[in-house]
Order: sequence, then C-alpha cells, then structure tokens
Amino acid sequence: MQCNWRQNWMLWLTALLLLLLLQLDESVAAAKSQKRRRHKAHHVKLERHDHEHHEKSLSNLQFEMLALRTKLKLKSNETVSQSQSTTSVNGVSTPRVPLGNAYNTEYFGTIQIGSQQTFKVLFDTASSNLWVPSVKCPTNNCTNMERYNSSLSSSYQANGTAFEIQYASHNNQPTILEGFLSTDTVTIAGLAIKGQTFAEITALPSGVFSRANFDGIFGLGFQEISIDDVTPPMYKLVEQDLITQPTFSIYLNRNNTGTIDPSGGKLLLGPSDPTLYSGCLTYVPLSVVGYWQFTTGSIQLGESSNNKLCSNCETILDVGTSLIVAPLPALKRINALLGITEADKRDGVYTIDCARIPSLPSLTLNIGRHDFTLKASDYVVQYKSTCVSGFTSLDDGSTELSDDRGTDYSTLWVLGDVFMGPFYLEFDLGYKRIGIAPKI
Ligand SMILES: *[C@@H]1O[C@H](CO)[C@@H](O)[C@H](O)[C@H]1NC(C)=O
Ligand SMILES: *[C@@H]1O[C@H](CO)[C@@H](O)[C@H](O)[C@H]1NC(C)=O
Ligand SMILES: *[C@@H]1O[C@H](CO)[C@@H](O)[C@H](O)[C@H]1NC(C)=O
Ligand SMILES: *[C@@H]1O[C@H](CO)[C@@H](O)[C@H](O)[C@H]1NC(C)=O
Ligand SMILES: *[C@@H]1O[C@H](CO)[C@@H](O)[C@H](O)[C@H]1NC(C)=O
Repeated sequence: MQCNWRQNWMLWLTALLLLLLLQLDESVAAAKSQKRRRHKAHHVKLERHDHEHHEKSLSNLQFEMLALRTKLKLKSNETVSQSQSTTSVNGVSTPRVPLGNAYNTEYFGTIQIGSQQTFKVLFDTASSNLWVPSVKCPTNNCTNMERYNSSLSSSYQANGTAFEIQYASHNNQPTILEGFLSTDTVTIAGLAIKGQTFAEITALPSGVFSRANFDGIFGLGFQEISIDDVTPPMYKLVEQDLITQPTFSIYLNRNNTGTIDPSGGKLLLGPSDPTLYSGCLTYVPLSVVGYWQFTTGSIQLGESSNNKLCSNCETILDVGTSLIVAPLPALKRINALLGITEADKRDGVYTIDCARIPSLPSLTLNIGRHDFTLKASDYVVQYKSTCVSGFTSLDDGSTELSDDRGTDYSTLWVLGDVFMGPFYLEFDLGYKRIGIAPKI
C-alpha cells in the first residue's frame, strides 16, 4: 500500500487550492503556516553511545540478548525457579522487564520529573513502564545515577504500590530491582504530562549501572505489558491533548562514532514529519497489541526466492535491541548464505570480515505488500576494524522459547536498531499499526 487514492486526491486538491489562494490573498499563507505550527511534532533529540572497544560492544550485545529474554518473559532454567519463589498473590508471577549494561549501545534522551529534576532515559519500544532511581536508593548502589527526591517536588503525589523488575545479568543470574510507584509531572520535549505514574527504584545491586549513560527507562509499548498496569506516558500525552495525534516516530542515525553522539537520531511525539522520509508511509496493522508486533509478508536474503527465510513472519520492533534476532533455523540459513561458521562466533554474535561487505546479499522484508531492503552495510555492524553480523538468535538452548502463558516465541523475529536504521518508523497507538518508509 502506497499513498492511497484519498491522499493523492487530497494532495491534488490542496495543490489546486493553494495555487488559487496564493493568488487571492497572501494572508492565507500565513494562516497555513500557523496551522502547520499547531500540528508540528515535538522532537526529542536522541543520543547514542557506541563503545570504541569492540570487546565491550560484543559483550554488551550478549547482555542485550539476556535483556530481550526478560522482556519477552521467556522462561530460562534460572528464571523458572526464581519466578516460583517470587510468585505473588493469586499465583500471578511478577512480569519482568529488561535491563542491564546491554543498553550501553542504545538510544537515550532527557526528561524532567517534578520541576527541576533531570534524568537520562533509554527509550524502549518493547516495554511500557517509566522508572528512575529514587533518592531512597543508597548512593553505593545507584552510583553515578540521578535520583528522584519527591520532597523537592510540589507536584508529587504518593502512590506507594510495590514495583519489581527482574532482569538477567552477566552470569545469567536473575537480579531484581525493587521500588514503588509515585506520581508527578513528567516533562518530555517541553510537554508537561500531569499526574504521570512511574516507578522509583529503591534497591538494585551495586555496580550494575555504575558505568551506564542513563538513569532509567522510558517504555513506549502498550499498557497491556505494563508492570502494575500503570498507564504509559504516551497514553497520557494523548489524554491530555499535549500531542495532536496518538503517534510517535523513531528516526535513528547509524554513523558509528565510538563516542556519545549527541545527534543519535530523533524521537518525534505527535504527527510524523514528512521531510524525514521519502514517499508515503506504508502501514501495517499490529497482529498482537502489547509489543509493536505485526506480520511481515516475507523475509528474504539475496535475489533468489529460494532464499526466502520465512513467510507471514511474526515480527516486533524493538529500539531497545541492537541486532535482528531470528528464529534458529532462519539464523542457520542466513549464516550459511553469508559464509559464516560457528568458528566466527564470539560472545554470542558472529564476526565477519569487513572486506566482504560489498559482496554480501541484501535482505528484503515485505511489509504491507511493499519491499523494504537492507544492504549488507546496513545489517553488518562495524566497530572500528571488527565487523559483526547483524543477525543473532535467542535460541541457545538455555531458554525455553515460551512465556508463562504458553505463548511460543520460537518463530518470532525481533527487528532491532540494525533493521530500523535505514527507515523512518511511525508507531500509531490509535489505529494500532506501524508506518514505515525509507528515511531521508
Ligand atoms: C531530599 O530533599 C529534601 C528537601 O529539600 C532534603 O531535606 C533531603 O536531604 C533530600 N534528600 C537527599 C537524600 O538528598
Ligand atoms: C546494595 O548492593 C549490595 C551489593 O550488591 C546488595 O547486597 C544490597 O542488597 C543492595 N542494597 C540495596 C538497598 O539495593
Ligand atoms: C497507584 O498506581 C496504580 C497504577 O496506576 C493505580 O492502579 C493505583 O490505584 C494507584 N494507587 C494509589 C493509592 O494511588
Ligand atoms: C551522524 O550523522 C548525523 C546525520 O547525518 C549528523 O548530524 C551527525 O553530526 C553525525 N555525527 C557524527 C559524530 O558524525
Ligand atoms: C535446562 O534444564 C534442562 C532440564 O532440566 C537441562 O537439560 C539443560 O541442560 C538446562 N540448560 C541449562 C543451560 O542449564
């Protein structure tokens, strides 16, 4: 689906009207620009951190896979026994959300809570809560992190409901972050959300985040996967008419600088910015609401349709994951087609000779009956002289690929930053769909 006829027709009509009106009265142009201003998106500048040291980058990617398991609430041997011990009232176990040093390679931005308290948060489309460290977290544990002090805020409202996140750390031992809910004004891109409930983290193991570049996480998923059923900030932005349209968009810059890049990309709140993409957005409805999950018609590596990796593939968009996570059989075929062997595996990802990039095939995803193509230079991640294949799998035998409710994730694809890089992506909460177009 490209621009539909209605849009084309509207464009023609608008063009015609504009021509007429421009001749009639100059003030019409002024009125139009005012209107445009009202419907402008609110930009959040994204920062991006890359590690100069590729060893560190590789191990971060490994952390991320652990975080992703947690986000999808997959049972692992360890978490199975853990969730039994943390099973709470009514036998409902605590939903788990991601974390970890994993996020050092991710995209983050700035928000304010209360009046003057500023936090760096990571944007995550595969979780739905906002959390920041609390002043009640000992400084030895919340080292180098900004901590929220509710006594400094006149707009603070107590809630006190317990909040818990379990995440997988380096040695695959589940670690728990604990805190409680609070409500305050949360400001993002100059938009003040009144009465936003978020979690104050009071306890976390020392050292976990001491070298992270962020203080908390800002979830952009649906309320269906929100811990404690807290209404996510995006919903509040819509409810309070702070944005004119219930959508946000992500535009990532992929140039690897080896440092913190203050121009890592953009998170747009409200209507899309057509100057950031070419052509029209192709829309596809969500197949499951919770994560940003939809059905991709097909995924193919190379020209030949013999190299089709799947048809009607379930895919989720996750800006909190760096790579493309494929089902294990698909990963094996990808590796065979790219000439990667198990000997190239390091820290759970596959290295590849950078010199081979120009000769590698393109990856084509058919989304909404429209092809979206990644070149090898898009799906191979380069850390100085080390190149890493942008494909990995969750399936390493340590995890059952299903959650507590029996949802099977063994055929799920997770489209992380490697996929999102060349595209402009609109996330539509109202129509429950995603829009995609090549970015400019
Ligand atoms: C939090 O703010 C209150 C009020 O200004 C202050 O008395 C208190 O010391 C602060 N707490 C910490 C741990 O900084
Ligand atoms: C602080 O960190 C230590 C060491 O990881 C841990 O034993 C302790 O429980 C933590 N305390 C809090 C309040 O998080
Ligand atoms: C605390 O927040 C939760 C989630 O938004 C809400 O369901 C609950 O009613 C709140 N409790 C109080 C005491 O405000
Ligand atoms: C990365 O690319 C963006 C957009 O092309 C540019 O604005 C930015 O300055 C670049 N960053 C660096 C550090 O080169
Ligand atoms: C997980 O548990 C199964 C059965 O209890 C066992 O066979 C398997 O080796 C375990 N995997 C890991 C990674 O511990």
